[in-house]
Amino acid sequence: MKIKILTLFPQIIETYFSTSIAAKAVEKGLITYEIINIRDFARDKHKTCDDAPYGGGAGMVLKPEPLGAALEASGAEQYRTIFPTPSGRLFHQSYATELAQEKTLIFICGRYEGIDQRIIDLYVDDEISIGDYILSSGEVASLVLIDSILRLVPGVIKAESLVDESITSGLLEYPQYTRPEVYKGLRVPEILLSGNHAMIQKWRYEQSLLKTKKYRPDLLRKGN
Ligand code: ADE
Repeated sequence: MKIKILTLFPQIIETYFSTSIAAKAVEKGLITYEIINIRDFARDKHKTCDDAPYGGGAGMVLKPEPLGAALEASGAEQYRTIFPTPSGRLFHQSYATELAQEKTLIFICGRYEGIDQRIIDLYVDDEISIGDYILSSGEVASLVLIDSILRLVPGVIKAESLVDESITSGLLEYPQYTRPEVYKGLRVPEILLSGNHAMIQKWRYEQSLLKTKKYRPDLLRKGN
């Protein structure tokens, strides 16, 4: 998969791709990425990329010309182009699975009050919200989306790691323990030391149900 990211703050994105799972995926050739600095497409002396909103109001809006030129140079007309925004469709694991099928994805990192609507009309395929809260950095929202998509690309993480996960299974994940057996007086549940696979599965399922009831009863009501 190829991921292109349009941003005014390339270092934020670079750090992500040069660390941990993303870096390994790049090293293995499973993922390629390209960071496009929107400012490189600004034509005036000051490399201006934002301006005040028509109609008034607080904050600044990303101007259409530099961002539009950056999108055209990236092939936005032929590749699925995503703009993370709190006013988009709510993200979900199933949406990540769908996006993981694409060969190329483009992400626009917004800043300030947003981007000119004509850019959305002309180039954006998906406006996606990662939740009902406001971030100041479109880079952080893009990386949340990228991280959830990238780990679904075959080979990036072990296939079995994807099976029992929270949400994919319709329930929140059961508690996990590792050595030592006793930590600060707290024991690992006896059942996990029993070697009885069927009983362990049953215990994990019950724990998942309890946790889901406590924190996400809406998932149970959906009949997932
Ligand atoms: N940019 C700022 N807040 C956001 C959110 N909640 N989702 C996606 N993009 C955002």
